[in-house]
Amino acid sequence: MSLTWSAKDHKNANQSAATGQKRSRNDAGNKVTVVLGAQWGDEGKGKVVDLLATEADFVCRCQGGNNAGHTVVVDGKEYDFHLLPSGIINPKSVSLIGKGLKGWEKRLIVSDRAHLVFDFHQVVDGLQETERQAQEGKNIGTTKKGIGPAYSSKASRTGLRVCDLLGDFKDFSARFKNLVRQYQSMYPSLTVDVEDQLKKLKEYSERLRPMVRDGVYYMYEALHGPPKKILVEGANAALLDIDFGTYPFVTSSNCTVGGACTGLGIPPLNIGDVFGVAKAYTTRVGIGAFPTEQLNAVGELLQTRGHEVGVTTGRKRRCGWLDLVIVRYAHMINGFTAIALTKLDILDVLDEIKVGVAYKLNGKRIPHFPANMDVLQKVEVEYETFPGWKTDTSAARKWNDLPAKAQNYIRFIENHIGVPIKWVGVGKSRECMIQMF
Ligand code: GDP
Ligand code: IMO
Ligand code: MG
Repeated sequence: MSLTWSAKDHKNANQSAATGQKRSRNDAGNKVTVVLGAQWGDEGKGKVVDLLATEADFVCRCQGGNNAGHTVVVDGKEYDFHLLPSGIINPKSVSLIGKGLKGWEKRLIVSDRAHLVFDFHQVVDGLQETERQAQEGKNIGTTKKGIGPAYSSKASRTGLRVCDLLGDFKDFSARFKNLVRQYQSMYPSLTVDVEDQLKKLKEYSERLRPMVRDGVYYMYEALHGPPKKILVEGANAALLDIDFGTYPFVTSSNCTVGGACTGLGIPPLNIGDVFGVAKAYTTRVGIGAFPTEQLNAVGELLQTRGHEVGVTTGRKRRCGWLDLVIVRYAHMINGFTAIALTKLDILDVLDEIKVGVAYKLNGKRIPHFPANMDVLQKVEVEYETFPGWKTDTSAARKWNDLPAKAQNYIRFIENHIGVPIKWVGVGKSRECMIQMF
């Protein structure tokens, strides 16, 4: 459950005092730009954040945890981020040593209200999956990073936060032991070396202490101080959202736009651009309905050409055609101001390309995205078919470099969602991104 920031210069934000003055709605302060996944994750959010972060003062994570896996390629080097904001690579202020990042501790802020994910939460994640499999014949296919159990602890008000870890350690230890006992009563096979865990946690607390701030006040200062560019990097994605995703095959946090407000403690008025990231096709890791999935040669081609393997778990991602019903649904919730369409280059070799444009139930189009997973399993997808461009697009750097058939494909998507496409991705690296406006 992360609430972390990487800041180029967090000193300024701390130095200017909160004025306490009344502000009008027109004087709401700086706006944050939010980058969110519009499908089932792995759309390329990390790459979009990295691109925007070159100009940002702050990059924030507001939900989820190390269940996220964001790959960013800079100067031919590949970085995999799980918990740290992808914006922590910043060529102007960071020296790179191999794959390590130097000096990141000085540029990382952690909110004191962030919940802690313990080792036993991860073990419990695994035990719950085994139990689901035994009881229901299927599980969720979680990342086993303990995210679900940690959010459960938060909701049942027994969770422990960074502020507790840095407070009275005796009190923290007592609450930790209590939490362990609670889980052990639910899962008798769970063994926890409490003393060893507490020893480690004590050590971590000292490493963490210099990075910890009051998150709400820190954001307030950032929003109301001198002009700042603030970026929020969403983890996971709309269809994995605990409230709006394909429940119960979802993660445990709000990965839609509301998560930026509740996770960072910022007012809705301070939300500026909301960029949705969508792949030019669809992928999904783990179990659950996937109406446009292609369990055939097309799916295999997308999987291999797109290197669709989970960064966090190493699992092959399931692949299928672009589903505009889900992207439109994500837009209904998030109100995207623009879209980044990634991985167009993966479609370069296809003879024809399909796009899901509507769902039908019993032969009739339905206008909404079904809440019930049995219904979603049954929908029939209506497709629009486009001729493939059969041209390598990976060297394209501007709109005019793209073949006309690829341009048609992009324009169709834009019109169908009703949101402008601002970027088109044609490769892994930072420069492989066509900016449209
Ligand atoms: P995230 O979780 O949304 O940040 O996405 P991931 O990093 O898990 O997965 C996206 C993968 O696609 C990464 O390996 C990226 O390097 C890669 N990628 C992103 N954009 C493009 C693109 O436009 N073309 C190609 N070929 N790869 C891309
Ligand atoms: P990024 O940020 C893809 C999926 C898992 C599983 C379900 C629940 O890289 O896009 P969890 O461990 O969160 O309880 O797992 O959600 N999932 C993701 N799939 N990308 C992600 O993150 C994901 N985060 C969670 O595969 O199906
Ligand atoms: Mg990912």
